[in-house]
Amino acid sequence: MKILVFAGSTRQQSYNRRLAQQAAGMARAAGAEVTLLELADLDIPMYNADLEARGTPPDVLRLKRLMWEHPGWIICSPEYNGSYTALLKNTIDWASSPVAADSEWQDGVKPFRGKVVGLLSASNGRLGGLRSQSHLAPLLLLLECWLAPRAYALAGAASAFDADGALTQAEQRAGVQGVVDQVLWATQRLHTEPR
Ligand code: FNR
Repeated sequence: MKILVFAGSTRQQSYNRRLAQQAAGMARAAGAEVTLLELADLDIPMYNADLEARGTPPDVLRLKRLMWEHPGWIICSPEYNGSYTALLKNTIDWASSPVAADSEWQDGVKPFRGKVVGLLSASNGRLGGLRSQSHLAPLLLLLECWLAPRAYALAGAASAFDADGALTQAEQRAGVQGVVDQVLWATQRLHTEPR
């Protein structure tokens, strides 16, 4: 079972990247084939339909292919001003644009439709970035994803990880594990191939 994990931050010391690494490790331990995607490695400009009309950027094609190939996803969302980041929105907008009509990805390719998605968030604040999830969830539903009903928001993220990047508290690990387990469970049942 192929699971895609990514964080909506490119910050070097990103809490959400660390959370993504934890989730990826748990999914691997459960037998999943995990791709940990680093959005900073993709050269994706701010969405502009004129740009897209001149041809989909190669890294957007790479992103869409990755999304298409992975039936289950785990997204770790930072919270900016009570919502998710512009990076996540831009990434989602490019990948979901109905305009694309390039040679490899014809019109009608919808990398989001039918994907099982689990949401995690991390913030040093008390809510752990939970409000970012409340904005991200309806967007993913609009794009016809299946959202895992369980979610986890890691509060106090600045002191949550040890020097190796592992979550120190059992309760926090259990929160992440709960989401990972649901994504794997639902992906296995809902997916034999992308819909
Ligand atoms: C933030 N941050 C933040 N945190 C939070 O819990 N609620 C919020 O509404 C906001 N708003 C906000 C706005 C802007 C513009 C910035 C730059 C930051 C703090 C934010 O959660 C923090 O920078 C995290 O470290 C971001 O996640 P990563 O990069 O560590 O994954």
